[in-house]
Amino acid sequence: MNAVPLAAPVHHRPRLTLLALGGTIAGKASQSTIYAGYRAAVSDVSEILSSVPELAGVADIQANQILQVASQDMASQHLLALGKEVNRLLSRHDCDGVVITQGTNTLEETSYFLNLVVRSHKPVVVTGAMRPSTSLSADGPMNLFRATVVAASPQAIGRGVMVVMNDQILGARDVHKTDTMTVDSFKSPLFGVMGMVVDNACFFYRSAIRCHTLDSEFDISDTQELPKVDIVYGYQDDHRALLDACVATGSKGIVLAGAGTAAISARLLPAVKDAIAAGIAVVRVSRSSLGLVGHNVEFDDDTYGTASGDTLNPAKARILLMLALTRSMNRSNIQACFDRY
Ligand code: SIN
Repeated sequence: MNAVPLAAPVHHRPRLTLLALGGTIAGKASQSTIYAGYRAAVSDVSEILSSVPELAGVADIQANQILQVASQDMASQHLLALGKEVNRLLSRHDCDGVVITQGTNTLEETSYFLNLVVRSHKPVVVTGAMRPSTSLSADGPMNLFRATVVAASPQAIGRGVMVVMNDQILGARDVHKTDTMTVDSFKSPLFGVMGMVVDNACFFYRSAIRCHTLDSEFDISDTQELPKVDIVYGYQDDHRALLDACVATGSKGIVLAGAGTAAISARLLPAVKDAIAAGIAVVRVSRSSLGLVGHNVEFDDDTYGTASGDTLNPAKARILLMLALTRSMNRSNIQACFDRY
């Protein structure tokens, strides 16, 4: 049923670390029937942990509050600090895996970043909640329980960073937040779920094919700051001042979220050429939620000097471009990253 684990299975009771970053899983509303108007990032990690006493039956858990924010307020400094902390924990013999709770708004970015920078095969599982903890049928407690079951499982070793929401196990590269409100918001529409959690057990059906964790070239141990990368959205009437503003404010890379197969309007094209001439990396991705943006497909990347972003959405392409730029400004190296990760 499952792939052969890539590291020695855990024979003792699993020892996990829970890192809490805030979000709706730590949110509270004034009434149990309200989950549109509430405050995110209110409950601390001990309150979250004590709301799921069943976790004691799964693993020994150390808990640490490392941020208390709504996830739209997270920034690359937080990602760097988180990545280093996860690597520090996983290098210890007494830590078998890490569970992270954070807001769902930017959970895709955090999980993909960790997928690229974690230097271990030990499980890392990110979860959150669509409903605050005070809701009728709050989803946070069960999501945390399921995420812990996955992180404690030998089956989860070597699979890259995973997101567990709504009983499903999703690969960090391909997971999308598809709905603003519903508990089944997190999906992998192009490639499907990696597995599912039923009661106290997880079942895997797929593995991540693109490089991750120990196969990744990205080492953030000495990185103090990630290069500035911005996203420009293409639309009818878009105009070059959008791109010029990125250049003027010091962007080292620009992700261009173009229409369809990442088409670039004639209005933006001169600014794209100027940015590339100034040594700024430009990566084309689609503003459509799904689909491949292939190299030189419907746009001559080789002539213009752009790179193509494969199936990554704009937010994830930005994460990969920041990391790629820590290694090289060269376009073919950047393209190779989008082909590999
Ligand atoms: C957030 O992302 O912090 C708020 C929204 C959520 O967690 O669902």
